[in-house]
Amino acid sequence: MRKKFYITTPIYYVNARPHIGHSYTNIAADAAARFFRLKGVDTFFLTGTDEHGQKVEKAAREAGREVQEFVDELAGKFKDLWMTLNVCPDDFIRTTESRHIRAVEHVLNYLYEKGDIYKDSYTGWYCVPCETFWTDGQVLMENGKRLCPDCRREVDELTEENYFFRLSKYQDWLIRYIKEHPDFVKPEGRYNEVLSFLEKERLNDLCISRPKSRFSWGIEIPFSPDHITYVWFDALINYISALGYPEDTEEFTKFWPADIHLIGKDILRQHAIYWPIMLHALDLEIPYQIFAHGWWLVDNKGSAEKMSKSRGNIVDPYVMVEDFGVDVYRYFLLREIPLGVDGVFSYEAVVKRYNGDLANDFGNLVYRVLSMAEKYLKDGVVQFTERPKNRLVESLFDLKEKVDLEFSSLNFYEGLACIWDVINLANKFIEEEQPWTMRKEGRFDDLKRFMYILLETLRIVSACVYPIMPTTAGKVWEQLGMGADISQANWEKIFVWGVIPEGTKIKKYPPLFPRRDEE
Ligand code: ME8
Ligand code: MG
Repeated sequence: MRKKFYITTPIYYVNARPHIGHSYTNIAADAAARFFRLKGVDTFFLTGTDEHGQKVEKAAREAGREVQEFVDELAGKFKDLWMTLNVCPDDFIRTTESRHIRAVEHVLNYLYEKGDIYKDSYTGWYCVPCETFWTDGQVLMENGKRLCPDCRREVDELTEENYFFRLSKYQDWLIRYIKEHPDFVKPEGRYNEVLSFLEKERLNDLCISRPKSRFSWGIEIPFSPDHITYVWFDALINYISALGYPEDTEEFTKFWPADIHLIGKDILRQHAIYWPIMLHALDLEIPYQIFAHGWWLVDNKGSAEKMSKSRGNIVDPYVMVEDFGVDVYRYFLLREIPLGVDGVFSYEAVVKRYNGDLANDFGNLVYRVLSMAEKYLKDGVVQFTERPKNRLVESLFDLKEKVDLEFSSLNFYEGLACIWDVINLANKFIEEEQPWTMRKEGRFDDLKRFMYILLETLRIVSACVYPIMPTTAGKVWEQLGMGADISQANWEKIFVWGVIPEGTKIKKYPPLFPRRDEE
C-alpha cells in the first residue's frame, strides 16, 4: 500500500473565468484525494493559478486593469469555484507568490551554473501587433512578403538574445526512462504518443527567456535583468515550489515525487517531456505518473469542438450547479466518460444521467429502503442480523477490491459502474424477496434479516460513492444514524459486516434526487 499520495492539477491561466473543463480536472483530483484519505493514506492535493506571461498581461490590458489587481481577482474566482464544488485542495499555489518566485530563481541559477542553461542569439520574424516571435518555418510567404501566420500582417526581421535550456542533452535519458517506466504516462495511448514523438524527432533546446523589451509580466532571469522567464518554465516549477522547494521542508521530503500530475491532453508535452528533463537536470526525482485526461467538447452545428476560453463556447459550472446541485454535477463528469477519452457535454446528457442513475437507481433505492425501515421495523429501530450468505452481500463485499483497484487508478467511470451493479442488484433483491409478502405471512425474522441486509447495503454503497458525491453520501449516513461525518470513515472498517448498531433509529429524508420531467 502507498504511504503517501501527492496529486496535482494544472495551474490555470487567469486570463478568464474557469469553465467546465477546469472543473473536470479538479473534481477528478478531489475525488482521488478523498479516496486516498478514506484509505488512511497521507494525502496532499495541490491546485493553483498560472499568473505570468503575455496572455495574462494582454487580458488585463484589454480589461483596462492593473495586472496584479486583475490576477488577484481572477485567482479568487478559481478559489471560489473550488469551494462551491466541494473541491478541497490542501494548498493553492499562485505563481506571483514570493515562495514560488524564489524557487524559480533557484532553479534558473542552479541550471545556469551547471551549464544546462546557455545564452544564444537567433534571428526570426516579429509581428508587432501580435507581439509574437515567429520562426522561418512558421511565417507565411505571399507575393514575396513574409506574413504573420495569425493576423497575416507583414513581419519584421529581428535578432534576439535569449537563454536556452538543454533539452536535447537529456533526450536519450528520457527515452530510456520512459521505456523503463511503462506507467509513467497514462492512458496508454498517450504513453505511446510521447514515446514515438521522442523517438522520431530530435528535440530543440527550449527557449526559456523573453526580452523584457517585448513584455515584462513575469519572473526576471536572476543573471540577466533584461530578460524574463518563459511562462511554461516558470509554471511547471509550481509542483515543487508549493512543497517548499528549494528548502528541505518536511512536506517536500514527505510528498515529492508526485504520485500523479493530472492534466488535460493539451499540455502533455510540457509535462511528459520538459518537466521530467527539468527535474532530472535539477537532480530531483521524477513524478510517478502523468495522467492526461480527454477534453469536454461542445456541439457546434453537428460537429464537436473543444470547449475553450478562446473559442467562447464555454459552459458555466455555476449554471450547472444551480440547476442540478454540486453532487450531480460531479457525478455526471466522472460517470459519463472514462477519464482518458473525449466527451460531448450537453444538458440532455446530464438530465439523462440524473433521471436514470440517480433518481431511478440510487435515489430510489435509498428512499425505498428507508420507507420500508419505517414501515417494517418497530419504531424504525434497527435489528441486527449476522452476515448472511447471499448474492447481494457477496457482491457488496466484492466492491472493496474492485472499487479500490479502479479509483486508485482514477478509473472513476469503471469504479462507479461496479457500484451501480450492486445498486441495481439491491433494487432487484427487493423485488425478488417481496417483503410485503413476508409481512403478510408473518415471517418477521425474514423481514428483520431482509431489512438489515439492505441497510448495510446502503451504508457500504454510499461510502463507496463518497469520493465523488460527498454530500449525498453524508446524507445517507445521517439517515442510517451513522453520524454525518463520513469523511472521517476508514475504508477497512467500512467493509465489516454489522456496523449499523442494533437499536439505531432510522431518520428518513425526502428523496435525494426527485425525478425531473425533461427528457
Ligand atoms: O494550460 N476539457 O492553463 P489553462 C477538459 N497554465 N479539460 C479542459 C478543457 C476541456 N475542454 N479546457 C481546459 C494551462 N481544461 C497552463 C497549465 S501547468 C504547470 C500550466 C483543463 O488555463 C485541462 O486540465 O489553459 C487542461 O489541461 C487545463 O484546463 C488547461 O488550462
Ligand atoms: Mg489552454
